[in-house]
Amino acid sequence: MTREKPKNLWLSRWGFILAATGSAVGLGNIWKFPYITGEYGGGAFVLMYLACILAIGIPVMMTEIAIGRRGRGSPIDAIGRVVRESSGNPLWKAVGGMAMLAGFMILCFYVVVAGWAFAYTWKMLDGSLAATSVDTLGQVFSQHNANPWQLGGWSVLVSLLTLAIVAKGVQQGIENAVRWMMPGLAVMLLVLVGYAFTSGGFSAGFDFLFSFDASKITGEALLAALGHAFFTLSLASGAILTYGSYIPDGQSIARTTFVVALCDTSVALLAGLAIFPIIFANGMSPGAGPGLIFMSLPLAFQQMPFGTAFGVLFFAMVSIAALTSAISMIEATVAYLNEKHGISRMKSAVLAGGVLLVISLLAMLSFNLMAGWTPLGKNLFDWLDYLTSRWMMPLGGIFLVCLAGYALRDEIMRDELGLPPLGYALWLFMVRYVSPVLIMVVFLHALGWLGFDPVTEWYWIVGAIGLLTVLGEVLRPRVLPVLAGR
Ligand code: PHE
Repeated sequence: MTREKPKNLWLSRWGFILAATGSAVGLGNIWKFPYITGEYGGGAFVLMYLACILAIGIPVMMTEIAIGRRGRGSPIDAIGRVVRESSGNPLWKAVGGMAMLAGFMILCFYVVVAGWAFAYTWKMLDGSLAATSVDTLGQVFSQHNANPWQLGGWSVLVSLLTLAIVAKGVQQGIENAVRWMMPGLAVMLLVLVGYAFTSGGFSAGFDFLFSFDASKITGEALLAALGHAFFTLSLASGAILTYGSYIPDGQSIARTTFVVALCDTSVALLAGLAIFPIIFANGMSPGAGPGLIFMSLPLAFQQMPFGTAFGVLFFAMVSIAALTSAISMIEATVAYLNEKHGISRMKSAVLAGGVLLVISLLAMLSFNLMAGWTPLGKNLFDWLDYLTSRWMMPLGGIFLVCLAGYALRDEIMRDELGLPPLGYALWLFMVRYVSPVLIMVVFLHALGWLGFDPVTEWYWIVGAIGLLTVLGEVLRPRVLPVLAGR
């Protein structure tokens, strides 16, 4: 067996869990989850998102970590190695390439949003958020975005910080930062939920998040929920696979995955519980869009005791959470340049950073100077988000599960996952049949090609999974050898 030797490993036993949680927990949980939940109408969206995490996110995450650890390298190299070990088609490496590209594209708009979090930490301090009405806070947000120097300055700051950390190597910094950032963020969110409880909007907020309305399950909402499951767990974007390549042998991949997914989901739900009550208590619309948390949370900080100190701490935590995610988006690219082309981490970071600065500044201009430039109906910022979350990551997900389920030699995943037989069978069932069928259903539904309603006519989906399982597990092992003339 040609096992790759690890080059860089996480420093502590908790290293991977900390770093992967640092990658997963970020603006996706605190900024994006509330705002898209608001846009897609609440409870039904939350339920679809949770289902996607369980049925697709968790199996994909296990697969990525296992491939990363077995192949020990950037997504392209790691996939190349496991495929070679299985005498498979080297074209599979393209899946790694697409993931790296997705990670990089996400970073290009993520730094703009992270810039908001940084700027709001500062604005909390200097009193510009002292407004007491939603309308005024809305104006503060739009004025901030209207000024390209301001908006660009903050996003350049985030880019430079990210690059500096990545250039030095991620292990040390991330493990330390996440160790205190995560509990800190959890405490802040709990306090905010406590405040939300007294805000007068708690039951409305709670109902909005958890009451189920099947009519809200549209093709578009399903695709958004699926895309968000990938986004929030940092999947199919090179991040988890590359971090997985630094895990020592012998650590349980399944347990690790569950811990990371649980932390990530809890933070998102807490953020929702903190934000929606405040929104309803202040008569705001939950569908206010990307500015949602920036227009609502400062109100809460105005009203609570020690609100300013608390608000500063809160936005500072969110900024750090964003930074630990941003780092993971570019780590794959830097690892690739470093490993494949022998370019030092420093030079790779500078190289990738140059491209990042150009594209992210263009994305930033979507909010002001280039607001009118909307090719095919979206500005650059929205295109980067839409292409990655709705298409590249779910597609990458299908390829990853099919790679693991069909193309790799059985022992590879069996060895790496180290699951008991029943657990392994369950994982295999998920990656071969459940996850790919579900992702396909979501894609077809979004394109309007599904031909049935996936909620009321769910039995078609169960039937398809059942049929494929029988074909794959009973017929394939019998027919293939015959076809191969054995
Ligand atoms: N998971 C991160 C978040 O929720 C975003 C991310 C996406 C990070 C893809 C890495 C790769 O904010």
